[in-house]
Amino acid sequence: MMQRSEHTNIIEAESELDELMTRPRQALIDFVRTMSSPLLVLGGSGKMGPTLAVLAKRAAEQAGSGLQVIAVSRFSDESARSWLEERGVETIQCDLLERKQVAMLPDAENVIYMAGRKFGTRANPPLTWAMNTIAPANVAERFPQSRIVALSTGNVYGEVSRSSGGSVESDEPAPVGDYANASLARERIFEYYSTKNAARICLLRLNYAVDLRYGVLVDIAQKVYRGEPVDVTMGHLNCIWQGDANEMCIRALDLAASPARILNLTGADILSVRDLARRFGELLGKEVKVVGEESDRALLNNASAAFAVLGTPATPLDAVIRWTASWIASGNRTLGKPTHFEVKDGRY
Ligand SMILES: NC(=O)c1ccc[n+]([C@@H]2O[C@H](COP(=O)([O-])OP(=O)(O)OC[C@H]3O[C@@H](n4cnc5c(N)ncnc54)[C@H](OP(=O)(O)O)[C@@H]3O)[C@@H](O)[C@H]2O)c1
Repeated sequence: MMQRSEHTNIIEAESELDELMTRPRQALIDFVRTMSSPLLVLGGSGKMGPTLAVLAKRAAEQAGSGLQVIAVSRFSDESARSWLEERGVETIQCDLLERKQVAMLPDAENVIYMAGRKFGTRANPPLTWAMNTIAPANVAERFPQSRIVALSTGNVYGEVSRSSGGSVESDEPAPVGDYANASLARERIFEYYSTKNAARICLLRLNYAVDLRYGVLVDIAQKVYRGEPVDVTMGHLNCIWQGDANEMCIRALDLAASPARILNLTGADILSVRDLARRFGELLGKEVKVVGEESDRALLNNASAAFAVLGTPATPLDAVIRWTASWIASGNRTLGKPTHFEVKDGRY
């Protein structure tokens, strides 16, 4: 397959996007060489899991390590399963809410926990709470000796002023709404087991991974392209290229500790929604309609602590913005899963 420069202006097809997003850098290849098999990716069929699993597999191939990578999920979407298997990732169907099914998973020193539930919470809050408490408890009980990296979200913090530079890990959580509260519960369950069993855990509070098929940049670019108004009330945000977020998730296995370690995970910059809309307007040749006024407060995450131990994300966001604009203008496939980043009342 043709390998374009990482900072090319356009990505033309999904095969090219997937190749770029799962192309391992040397730091990951070196880390994967030290890992023992298998790597379990729980909740590995969603928006991030498949590209994370294939990234790990490609890193292992380049390291000559033969690391077995297993994605675990209910696989409600069968196409995710075949996509993974075609790329050398094994799959196991398992409902993480079912303790007996979790008990049958293979032993693993390395576990990445990506399962969760956000959208649909308003319609069924109990399921969101169950997914974010019972499933983590089942997993933490099943893997007391493992290193676990568990994804969390910046939603566990309340909104902060732009001038604060974003929430840091020592800030008191102030979750709003069922999803954010259940996400904090997910963290607390992992923390409980980390202390109880001396289990090594790293919790990553992620703010917006961006792919070209979904994400905050796609949401804004699509509105501009369609001539729809962009609401700037949630005036600022952070995001990180999904390939970089995935890479940092895998390398964070090395940071797992007891008591659990907590790190924010996002890009280095606080981005203005209005400026992003203007930039997409320029790139797409569209007039931009903006509604609302920037609130002083937004959901913002400061990932300096993660950068100190994992390095800064390798992919510049201005390249991602260009890729996103051309992806949308070309009518390429998107997932139809808006992030609802504008939401300020915590209801998803
Ligand atoms: N993407 C982002 O920008 C973002 C931002 C902040 C935080 N996060 C966190 O990062 C994690 C990964 O993100 P994502 O966007 O990939 O999430 P996602 O698209 O929601 O994927 C999570 C996957 O978990 C699986 N799952 C749900 N319930 C399950 C169950 N009972 N048993 C087994 N698997 C189950 C689902 O697959 P099946 O239906 O096939 O089981 C789903 O595909 C999530 O925990 C999310 O909270 C993501």
